[in-house]
This record gives sequence, C-alpha cells and structure tokens, in this order.
Amino acid sequence: MREFENSGGHMIFGGMRADEIAKKYGTPVYVTDEDLLRANYRSVHNAFSKYMDTRVHYACKANSSLAILKILEQEGSYIDAVSVGEVITCMKAGFDASRILYTGTSVSTHELNEVAKLKVPINIDSASELERLAKIDTGMDISVRITPGVGSGHCDKVVTGAEGSKFGIPMDAAVETYGRALDLGFKPKGIHAHIGSGGYTAEPFMESVSVLIEKTNEIKDELGLELQYINMGGGFKVPYKPNEPEMDVEEIASAVTDMILDETSVRTIALEPGRYIVCDTTILLTRCNDVKLTGIKNYIGVDAGFNTLIRPAFYGSYHHVAIANKFNKACEGKYDVVGPICESGDHIARDRALPAPEEGDIIAVYNAGAYAFSMSSTYNSRPRCREVLVNNGKTELIRDNETMEDLLRHQVIPKRLL
Ligand code: LLP
Repeated sequence: MREFENSGGHMIFGGMRADEIAKKYGTPVYVTDEDLLRANYRSVHNAFSKYMDTRVHYACKANSSLAILKILEQEGSYIDAVSVGEVITCMKAGFDASRILYTGTSVSTHELNEVAKLKVPINIDSASELERLAKIDTGMDISVRITPGVGSGHCDKVVTGAEGSKFGIPMDAAVETYGRALDLGFKPKGIHAHIGSGGYTAEPFMESVSVLIEKTNEIKDELGLELQYINMGGGFKVPYKPNEPEMDVEEIASAVTDMILDETSVRTIALEPGRYIVCDTTILLTRCNDVKLTGIKNYIGVDAGFNTLIRPAFYGSYHHVAIANKFNKACEGKYDVVGPICESGDHIARDRALPAPEEGDIIAVYNAGAYAFSMSSTYNSRPRCREVLVNNGKTELIRDNETMEDLLRHQVIPKRLL
C-alpha cells in the first residue's frame, strides 16, 4: 500500500496538506495525484514494452473521469470500454476510435450498431453477437473473447474467466467461432481473455495466456488465420493493506511475453489494467460529522457513505483509513467509520485503530482511484461529490459536485396527480 508523508501531524498528498484540500473543496471529495497516475501507466507499459510491441488498454470502468482519461491519452494509452457511453466519453477525451476496444457482454443490437457507426474495434463476447454484427458490418475490426477456464479475483463477484462464466466464448468453441467469423467475411485480428480482477497470485495469468497461445496456434493451423495480437485482459492486484506485498508485474510481463514470443508468431501483446493504473493515485477525503461511543462499538460518522464508495459494503473490501489532520498522533481506540446512508451495511471501515476522533476531523480513505467514483450513486438522494486533481503543488477541480437540480431534472409528476 502506498504510504504518504507526514508534515507536522498533517497528511501530505501530492505536495499539499490533505485537510487543506478538503477545506477548499468541501467533502466528500476525491483527490487524484497526476504524477502518480502517469507513473503507474509508465510502469506497466515499460514492464511489457521492453519485450514486445505493447498496447495498454486502460480499463476505463475503473475511473472514467475526463481529466484522468486525457492524462492517459497523453501517455499513449489505449482503452478497454464496456459500453457505448464509455466509448463516447473516451472519444471526448481525445481517443481515436482505433485506440479503443469495445468489450461488451449481453450486448444489444442497438449498442452494436452505435459502436459500429463509431468504427470502434469490437471484442466479440458470444456467437449471437458475431451473427448480429455480421448483419451490420463485416468490415469491422474484431477480436474474440474466450473463456479460458481460469478464474481469479479478490472475491467471487469479480471472477470472470472460470469455466461456465457468463463472459466470452467457451474455449472449446474458439476455433469454430473464428471459422464462422471468416465465413461471415470478418478478418479477426486478436484473441482475448480476462480472468478476473484483483486476484492474489500470478499463476492464473500464465495459465490463461497458455490457453490463448494454444488457441492462437490452432486457429493458425486449422484455419490459416494469423492473429496479430494476444490480449491477456486486466486484473493485476494492488495492495490495499499496510505491508501487503505488491504483485510483481515485471515478472508477469517477462513470463507471458517469453511464452508468446517462443510459442507463437504473434508480436503484439495487449493488456487491460484498470485498478493497477488508477487505484493508489487517489484518496477520498471525508469529514467527521459525529463520534458515537456506544459502549459496545465506537463509531466515526462521516459524510461519505456507500453512495460515495461502495466497495466496502458491496465486496467487503478493505480500504485503509487515516485521520489526515492527526497523522502523527498515537492510536487510542478502535473505531468503525460509517456513512450517512440509512442502512447498517453503510461502513467504510471496521475496527480500525485510530487516534481519538473529533467532529470536523478529515478522514482520508486510501486506494480510492479505482471502482470508487465510477461506482458511486445518488442513493438516499445525495448528489455525487467533487473530484480534484493535484499537480505540481496546485489543485484543479475536474468534476463539480451534482446538485439537487441535477437529481430532480429528469423526473416528472404526471399532471393528473397534481
Ligand atoms: N478487462 C475486462 C474485460 C474487465 O472486465 C475488467 C474489469 C478489466 C479488464 C480491468 O480489471 P482490473 O485491472 O481493474 O482488475 N468493481 C470491482 C472490479 C470489477 C472489475 C470488472 N472488470 C471492484 O471494485 O473490485
């Protein structure tokens, strides 16, 4: 887990006092450090590109804020998009269609039409999607998503590659699907698998890439089709707890590129990290509204609930927390950090040793860059919060908070009820 500097008892983030950022922009607020974002992108890109031509398709479901996308666009990133909404957002940030790969699941014909109109390459998820796309445009640039029979993830909800998964074409039907694509007039360029998100070990990546290699060679031998790239998906783990080891992406890069270069004629690798690129670039700052000591449990009531950050409530995920304005104070007790949502599952953190909290304290929630703002909601009629970028000791607003007007804008009371 990334640690932050302390200056006179204050947490320093991107060269600035976190509590001062909170004061300036209000809370809750997501704050992203631009330098960390660029460094993460470069570290994963460099790990692979020293061995092979590499396309890093940032999985923008993790965080699709325009400013974040623009920074990654400048870095040379490609995109993994799952919806026409993500495609349009990335184009707005400056990505050309050719730098985006659309990987949908349960894709409607309407959406296929929209993506085809934008000329964005499509990663086919099912036989039905292939047949329907053939009726739209067989000139589309396509690849096929295979279920590799290897799954991995930080919890069951995010494992995608295991046998029987709803994602992709079963590996035994891979060659047949490429054959059908050729018959329909397509010329598929790549093969793809994604095992899941945030799993703890490196081995499943190797196993999945072995399956992709085997299928690539069968497709070449049986159909005479030479694929141009192997897309190993995303899913690299990021440490969320202090002292948790990091995943060795360098080692994975060396192992999988070795395998591909030795065993196939493919010379381009694609990968789709989301979490790895954005997770530890961002903190969520939330203010202590009240402190409740029940005799059984101690609660710090803050202004961010699972409407703002759903991962702890939804996946049981751990996010480290610290009091940003008491950064060097000794811990005095154990506290649950809870939000303003009227459900008992509205926890940000449980049983954490922290200094004695007071109303007005600013709590920093770590690793809030991935699947955080992008999964936030307006539950309990609470408008979504601001996002701020820190660069060179300066802050810039990159998303303003929603207002009650935004929430009410699309609602109508039928006249007869008035
Ligand atoms: N590629 C595909 C096809 C994916 O479905 C995903 C994530 C990724 C790449 C990026 O995976 P990453 O590198 O970020 O692990 N909301 C969950 C994670 C869901 C991931 C969904 N798919 C969470 O908060 O943990």
